[in-house]
Amino acid sequence: MAKIIVSDSADLVDRWIAAIKDRRPDIEAVPLAELGDSDEARASVDYALVWQPDPGFLASLPNLKLIVSVGAGLDHLTNDPLLPRHLPTVRMVDPGLTQGMSEYCAWGVLSLHRLFVPLLNSQASGAWQVVHAPIASNTRVGVLGFGVLGSRAGEALQALGFQVCGWSRSAKQHDSIPLYSGDDGLAEMLPTCDYLVLLVPATPDTFHLIDADFLARCKPGVGIVNAGRGSLIDDDALLEALDSGQAGGAVLDVFHQEPLPSDHPYWQHPKVIVTPHVAALTYPETGGEHVVAAINALETGEPLPALVNWDRGY
Ligand code: NAP
Ligand code: GLV
Repeated sequence: MAKIIVSDSADLVDRWIAAIKDRRPDIEAVPLAELGDSDEARASVDYALVWQPDPGFLASLPNLKLIVSVGAGLDHLTNDPLLPRHLPTVRMVDPGLTQGMSEYCAWGVLSLHRLFVPLLNSQASGAWQVVHAPIASNTRVGVLGFGVLGSRAGEALQALGFQVCGWSRSAKQHDSIPLYSGDDGLAEMLPTCDYLVLLVPATPDTFHLIDADFLARCKPGVGIVNAGRGSLIDDDALLEALDSGQAGGAVLDVFHQEPLPSDHPYWQHPKVIVTPHVAALTYPETGGEHVVAAINALETGEPLPALVNWDRGY
């Protein structure tokens, strides 16, 4: 009997095991905590479904054939210097996660657009302070990273009435959303956007994508929603842009260091909304389909869904 080891937060492990068993009762799904430490136990593992595995753990499984990431992001794997990159690795694609991300990005943009922070401050001081938001149809949102999550978030924002455009690494097309790619595409798109939603993965190419030079090329007052990863932003540059007015506000879910240190200036900044990496979570009940699809594909020799290409970093 093939065996999959499951490592996720304690409250989710049983749900993953049920989701896998429902679809493939012939696979033994075992919580990592119950695997044991013997060579024999480690040799019995065929597949691994993991979130933030201990460095070296995956490399210690001699018969491992497939790694499935619980998250869409892969930095929790690349943090491991011993990650067995020769093994097929699949990132998460889950309708529940995608829906959650669309909700978060819509909420983040709307919070900036509808001046939610000033309104809350007015309420706190009991002030009837009228503020006017510009009309959404005159407002352009650029989605940086137009993959599984970015494309759906872009469509949700478009459905709310915003003008939307997207940016990706490779040139792509969408029926109703203009798309840009590469450095030239970014240069053309940036000065036109009132808000930017960040949904590119953390790779060496995207590290500090949002730096002082990038922010200077943005429309003055640009609003930033970062649901991708903290490494995308040079925090000093963003704080400077917020203080000078070059950036109008930021909704930030992900950070270089998590939890965000209690003395970090983002916490108290009047133009920043901080959320604790909650933009979108994977649901075992819906994500289980993807896990089993990946195993099925591996077993039958079909192309694997959402297979990671380590050469490009995601
Ligand atoms: P995906 O489908 O792989 O999409 C990634 C997108 O980024 C693609 O459009 C890709 O371009 C683009 N991209 C990658 N490198 C680029 C570069 N150097 N320049 C321009 N574009 C680049 O990934 P996804 O499933 O949408 O997930 C995106 C990210 O969201 C994850 O990596 C993770 O960090 C983050 N996330 C955060 C949360 C949260 O709770 N905050 C939850 C889930 C995911 P191509 O289309 O050309 O490949
Ligand atoms: C969450 O951050 C994910 O990568 O799915």
